[in-house]
Amino acid sequence: MSASDARLERLVAPVADGLARMREILARQVAESSAAVADMTGHVGRFRGKQLRGALVLLAGDATGNATDEHPAIAAIVEMIHLATLVHDDVLDGADVRRRVATVHQRWDNQVAVLLGDFLYARAFALSTDLSSRLASRVLAEATRRICVGEIEQSTLRYDFDLTDARCEAIAGAKTATLYAAACELGARYPGGREDLGLELSSFGYEVGLAFQIVDDCLDVVGEEAVVGKSVGNDVEDGKVTLPVLHAYRRASPAGKARVREIFTQPGLERRVTLLREACDLAGGVESAMARAADLARSARARIADLPPSSARTALEDLAEYVLERRW
Ligand code: IPE
Ligand code: IPE
Ligand code: MG
Ligand code: MG
Repeated sequence: MSASDARLERLVAPVADGLARMREILARQVAESSAAVADMTGHVGRFRGKQLRGALVLLAGDATGNATDEHPAIAAIVEMIHLATLVHDDVLDGADVRRRVATVHQRWDNQVAVLLGDFLYARAFALSTDLSSRLASRVLAEATRRICVGEIEQSTLRYDFDLTDARCEAIAGAKTATLYAAACELGARYPGGREDLGLELSSFGYEVGLAFQIVDDCLDVVGEEAVVGKSVGNDVEDGKVTLPVLHAYRRASPAGKARVREIFTQPGLERRVTLLREACDLAGGVESAMARAADLARSARARIADLPPSSARTALEDLAEYVLERRW
């Protein structure tokens, strides 16, 4: 276990029992009699990921005194939706490695990867209909819609260096922060009522999730595959203008800007990230994007400062810091 894993395990310790139940539910839900599907779900289950979103459902439940017997199932549904988005995202991004193993489309092909993502969505929403309140289905269907919109918009806005920070963040927010927000909202107010508290925790989740995605975008340009556990450099490869790249671009001279655009758009170019690093101050862009992520994490922490002191509240505060320091 790496130092980073050990830190995460300590961080989520207050909800260790709920996480164990969540994992049992997840294992049951992805089981399938078809040997072909079982082979794939076994493959994606081999390395389980950080399960931050599931932990957030449980921590938000505990920190607000709202935990129910159904929270672990909600956490499992959130993690299944997350996994479905990853399987589809890797097809979109042409990524080879996820959670330290080959991506589904790499090991099999695009067709089955799309279908496995659909299978996971179907299982997630089927499980949500077993819950006693429809709130989880409603919130998570809306989150899924927004994730799809975010991914589609990101795809259509590739190579666009005129993007404003607000637009860039709105896309990162839609595709990633939405699910963090939904996890925290459901933790705080499922099965219903307590709308104010739900809204506050939703805003906390949104800011943590947006900070998480900005850090992720930085790791794509400065991280190493062996540490991050997934393909890096894919955003640049794919023409995605993320916040660190946008900030680096804006600092560049006119000639530097022209070179960055050329690097982004020239087909078949190798070592794109290395070339980008030579053409502009990528480290400066990363630093400035990280400063924005730190602001978001600070703002998120302030939102929960009035919750009664508890180990779960402390864990939520620590998690807002963890997303800034994570290396995978
Ligand atoms: C990866 O999320 C997808 C993004 C939103 C950047 P995580 O890094 O939480 O993925 P796992 O579940 O831990 O693998
Ligand atoms: C995708 O963002 C976020 C999703 C909603 C799946 P990224 O494309 O940055 O995620 P990674 O880096 O592949 O995990
Ligand atoms: Mg991706
Ligand atoms: Mg990424």
